[in-house]
Amino acid sequence: MTTVFNASFLTGARSAKQFPADSGLEVAFAGRSNSGKSSAINAITRRKALARTSKTPGRTREINFFTVAEDRRLVDLPGYGYAKVSAGMRDEWRELLEQYFRYRQSLRGLFVTVDIRRGIGDLDRVMLNWATDAGVPAAALLTKADKLSRGAGLKRRDEIANTAPEGVPLLLFSSPRRLGVDEARAQLRAWLELP
Ligand code: GTP
Ligand code: MG
Repeated sequence: MTTVFNASFLTGARSAKQFPADSGLEVAFAGRSNSGKSSAINAITRRKALARTSKTPGRTREINFFTVAEDRRLVDLPGYGYAKVSAGMRDEWRELLEQYFRYRQSLRGLFVTVDIRRGIGDLDRVMLNWATDAGVPAAALLTKADKLSRGAGLKRRDEIANTAPEGVPLLLFSSPRRLGVDEARAQLRAWLELP
């Protein structure tokens, strides 16, 4: 059975004060700028432009919350690793993310989007370790797999597995080709305890 997520934008937050009530369950998407977080949210919810995507990296500067079912949310986190961002912005980003990860009781799962051609970077590891420390299960979506042949994609996944923290599932993913989308939806349903 496929759950139809009835997704809608809830709110954008630039500080912890603006986070919606910490009740129910939510799953967050983290990843480098331009790695495909917002596109993944759109593919998974089957909405063309629910989360704003952009060719310009560093576009999503706030934490965007989307409701997908009663008291169930998806969270689009601001991307990291964008070189042109000032040191002040980077501190703001770190503070916002730390507040989110340290206190968010409703966080039940984390997807980290990783451009399959780049592989897992230092900040991806920080994210995955934050999740582990908080007892939150995490999985990596190896995005833009459509940029590689099937064989090259599988080979690349094995290479990335050697550098990934232990126990993190790696899913070949492509938003335009909808590769891995059903698997990601199944994971999401499990984390959000949806039928
Ligand atoms: P920030 O909000 O800046 O952190 O970026 P983001 O991680 O949300 O990335 P976004 O979804 O906006 O995608 C960035 C660019 O990559 C856009 O031009 C997307 O169309 C493209 N893109 C995202 N996912 C895929 C994918 O699976 N395959 C291909 N070919 N392009 C993708
Ligand atoms: Mg985005």
